[in-house]
Amino acid sequence: MSAAAAIVSSAPEPAGTSLEDDGIDLTGLDRNGLRAVDWLLSPARRFPALPSAVADVMAVANTREANFREVDRVVRTDPVLAARVLSVANSPLYRPPAPITSLRMALMRLGWSILREVLLQAVAEAHLFRGGPRREVNAVRLHSIAIAHVHRHVAQVLGFDTEHAFVCGLLHDLGRPALLTALAASDAPPLDPTQRDLVIRALHPMIGARTSRAWQLPDVVARVCLDHHRSDDGGAALSQGGVSSVALCEALVASEGYASEPVCSAEQAATLLARVQLPPHELESLRSTALVLCREAS
Ligand SMILES: [Fe+2]
Ligand SMILES: [Fe+2]
Repeated sequence: MSAAAAIVSSAPEPAGTSLEDDGIDLTGLDRNGLRAVDWLLSPARRFPALPSAVADVMAVANTREANFREVDRVVRTDPVLAARVLSVANSPLYRPPAPITSLRMALMRLGWSILREVLLQAVAEAHLFRGGPRREVNAVRLHSIAIAHVHRHVAQVLGFDTEHAFVCGLLHDLGRPALLTALAASDAPPLDPTQRDLVIRALHPMIGARTSRAWQLPDVVARVCLDHHRSDDGGAALSQGGVSSVALCEALVASEGYASEPVCSAEQAATLLARVQLPPHELESLRSTALVLCREAS
């Protein structure tokens, strides 16, 4: 019997479970919420397989040198992705001086390192942030894109390993769309919106990490998924002053009202930002760039 099943089958619910030992906060969950946790974590539950388009783009984006023929092949086989690549390349985030109308033009104007990001953002928008309840999944999409760009900037400024910064920001909340979709299924336990949000808040780091591992994404992505709400040293994949770098980005955007998750209060954000120990003018510069990137992503 799983930890959540143990809770669901006994009344009143005992405090302290192995889930809580794993850092999963079950605070506020009622019997329906706990039953949903149990259902979601049952060994028989399958989350979606990695879409082949995402696997292809991840493989292409992982190469250091542009192979235009290979990029063209991957994008050409997926009309949804092809359309999305051009709309992302023309978005305010990349500010092309003139409209980009072809993949080759995108490569020439933006360069390979930026086109890799465009491809990753486009494929995530086309194939990962979809399904489930549209409004909520769209909110996760916008939040994830904003964090991806802010995280890349933060990594550059603070000297983190920038190689995976963008993709880690983009996929840190991977568990959210997976859980939103699972809980919208016809066989899912019924939940009111408050309980559903609490369940997703509790489980999305673990589900994101499991999904990332199952998809064989770079190991750092799974660690960021798992640790991005932790503000201690434990396991933070990329950290500054012991603060997970994605948690830092969440704090930067939360203080400007761009957080999609009610996990970072203004007080928590202030505490996290203080622990990074940046001089005030550098923190202010980081904050204002984050705000611009959030506006451009939304
Ligand atoms: Fe987030
Ligand atoms: Fe999150």
